[in-house]
Amino acid sequence: MNLLIAGGAGFIGANFAHDAAERGHRVLIYDLLTYAGNPKNVASFTHLVKGDIRSASALDIVFAEGIDGVPFDAVVNFAAESHVDRSISLAMPFVETNVVGAVTLLEAARRHRVPTMVQISTDEVYGSIEETGRFTAQSPLRPSSAYSASKAAADLLLLSYYRTHGVDVRITRCTNNYGRFQHPEKFIPTVISNALAGTSIPIYGDGNQVRDWIFVDDHVAGILDVLERGRPGAIYHFGGPGIEGDAVGISNFELAHRLLRILAEKTGSQLSHYTALLQNVTDRPGHDRRYALDWSDAERELGWRPNIELEEGLRKTIDWWLAHPNWWNDV
Ligand SMILES: NC(=O)c1ccc[n+]([C@@H]2O[C@H](COP(=O)([O-])OP(=O)(O)OC[C@H]3O[C@@H](n4cnc5c(N)ncnc54)[C@H](O)[C@@H]3O)[C@@H](O)[C@H]2O)c1
Repeated sequence: MNLLIAGGAGFIGANFAHDAAERGHRVLIYDLLTYAGNPKNVASFTHLVKGDIRSASALDIVFAEGIDGVPFDAVVNFAAESHVDRSISLAMPFVETNVVGAVTLLEAARRHRVPTMVQISTDEVYGSIEETGRFTAQSPLRPSSAYSASKAAADLLLLSYYRTHGVDVRITRCTNNYGRFQHPEKFIPTVISNALAGTSIPIYGDGNQVRDWIFVDDHVAGILDVLERGRPGAIYHFGGPGIEGDAVGISNFELAHRLLRILAEKTGSQLSHYTALLQNVTDRPGHDRRYALDWSDAERELGWRPNIELEEGLRKTIDWWLAHPNWWNDV
């Protein structure tokens, strides 16, 4: 397929662009290159356009050209303001990019008769879940932050195009991702980079918020499956493989300790040198306690399963971090 990847210079989008190209798809990356977008993530790609998904006129030019004159077969939208903390301080950029931008992108795709759009959404649209249970695609939407509310709004708007106009829109909702290219403002990169820099590692509140982590390659594989074999109008869930000896998820506090243990082992530093940097700070307002997704529909329909265990994924991530100090120092 000829793919337009919006937000393809960010964390998940860049990983997706590399794997899509490896599977033989042709790729054009369309990205505003905000603080979160990094051209180094996609330096090997020849088709990179700096542009805004909120600009219908800029999109028209890119859609009219396609890739070397060949029209796009699909649009995959990763472009977003993605950091919850920033949405608490300033919500409007989240409404503009995540909601208005997503609809502007879909409208442009329709004008240029691009058959399919895959929208990358999040489990955060469901809000927090109790200590047990998992959200299904039928669970009510109860987003807690401006970030998750803007993602939920985009999902509903795009699905309305499917119901009203029969447009082929597919939605993916995924749990917390980790892996190479993730911006250091996010939790796992913060723990790794602050530990390496010897600065304090902030842990929100009591650190007992539970997250289900998925290695980015597993998420990307699911998105490719949706693109190649998914159904119009469907919502697909992707989650992690679970934690050894535990059903789903791990607390932020435990995860930080795991990361520091692996880091100490790999750098030959004392574990206590790293753990002394952990510092509990005031909790994020409206902080969700737990996320957990039921991804059995994706398994049944697409044959998808997460392959990378948490320990293996964390080791790979730390290895990448240690091998690329310039990448994160520059960011
Ligand atoms: N990171 C996660 O754990 C996670 C989990 C589930 C879903 N998601 C969703 O996946 C998508 C990608 O997340 P990420 O973590 O890679 O985010 P990211 O912040 O790393 O990347 C976002 C990219 O979008 C680009 N962008 C921002 N505004 C734009 C605009 N107006 N026009 C064009 N490009 C713009 C940025 O430059 C950046 O390259 C987001 O939609 C997010 O909601 C992320």
